[in-house]
Amino acid sequence: MKILSVVGARPNFMKIASIANAVIACNAEKGKSEIEHVIVHTGQHYDERMSKLFFDELGIPKPHYNLEVGAGSHAFQTSEIMRKIEPVFIDEKPDFVLVVGDVNSTISAALVASKLGLRIVHVEAGLRSFDRAMPEEINRVLTDAISDMLFITERSAEENLRKEGISPDKIHFVGNVMIDTLLNHIEKAKASRILEGLGISRKGYVVLTLHRPSNVDDPVVLAGIIEALNSLSEKMPVIFPMHPRTRKKVEEARIRVSEGIKIIEPLGYLDFLKLVSEAKIVLTDSGGIQEETTVLKVPCLTLRENTERPVTVTEGTNRLIGMDRKRIVQAALEIMESGDIAGRIPELWDGHAGKRIIEILRSC
Ligand code: UD1
Repeated sequence: MKILSVVGARPNFMKIASIANAVIACNAEKGKSEIEHVIVHTGQHYDERMSKLFFDELGIPKPHYNLEVGAGSHAFQTSEIMRKIEPVFIDEKPDFVLVVGDVNSTISAALVASKLGLRIVHVEAGLRSFDRAMPEEINRVLTDAISDMLFITERSAEENLRKEGISPDKIHFVGNVMIDTLLNHIEKAKASRILEGLGISRKGYVVLTLHRPSNVDDPVVLAGIIEALNSLSEKMPVIFPMHPRTRKKVEEARIRVSEGIKIIEPLGYLDFLKLVSEAKIVLTDSGGIQEETTVLKVPCLTLRENTERPVTVTEGTNRLIGMDRKRIVQAALEIMESGDIAGRIPELWDGHAGKRIIEILRSC
């Protein structure tokens, strides 16, 4: 069996690490040639700190292909990936094209595979924010519509897919591959010296991550969020590993960032995991971090009005607080004063999702 996996952007790498591990474990158990795993990197993310560092830390095999697509408009990125990936699919003739998450690389690869009549596997299918202004929502809906096998992380996804007319026999509830990777690396992350390096102590700081276009591309919204964090930083230091997109926007809009906010470069996986696991509160607009904080039992305030990952709110430690300055400050102060948000770990987020996916693919 030949699986061809496509990755492109940072959040894809933690997911593919679990799949790659599960393939290696299967080959070790059943004999070396059971599964051939070809990895294609589209090059959507290309900085060392946004890409290679994750391959090294997570032990992901070096990609067989790098399409070096780079940055650009959505149309540019999507069409370049499609144009460059088609000959790879034709040469490799995989049994399955496996795509993860909801980035531009996901839909581009799925669309090309679909036109070539290849079987498409979507890992992390069925999540919906119901906000079509989010580029990721379009990528999710379209990828799911043309996928042959849809692996889901939470039960809400099944309902979403069924409402869109996806046949139930294509849907498999397997758990969360990103959480496989977290559980696999949590011990190693404990050795990170990131807290000492930043001069902060356990539960004595806040972590901020921001990169959604809806939060960073509009200078008024971005300034409001940063102002809220400026005032919170009077109570506790705020550590802000800054995404390159956000850095550009903060500089362009000349937004004032107070000294209590420590802006740092994007972190590697292990340092970031350590930083989040020991934080008092995480404020974020990321999707994946809502899930990671739920498993780490760290309070997460999501700077969005919606989430495609509702289980992190109904069962986990996540709260949706939007982008209003006062609301952000109030929600964070409440946690600083009254303690944690109780939560439990969602069903099947147990570290074995990748293994389940490979077992299902082998049985096809
Ligand atoms: C992409 C994904 C988003 C995901 C995010 C994680 C889409 C539509 N969006 O958003 O879902 O949550 O990745 O980071 O696929 N840049 C660099 N170096 C890099 C990568 C990007 O400097 O290695 C800069 C470029 O100027 C680029 C900008 O960041 O224009 C945005 O990158 P892009 O890949 O277009 O989208 P993200 O905002 O990273």
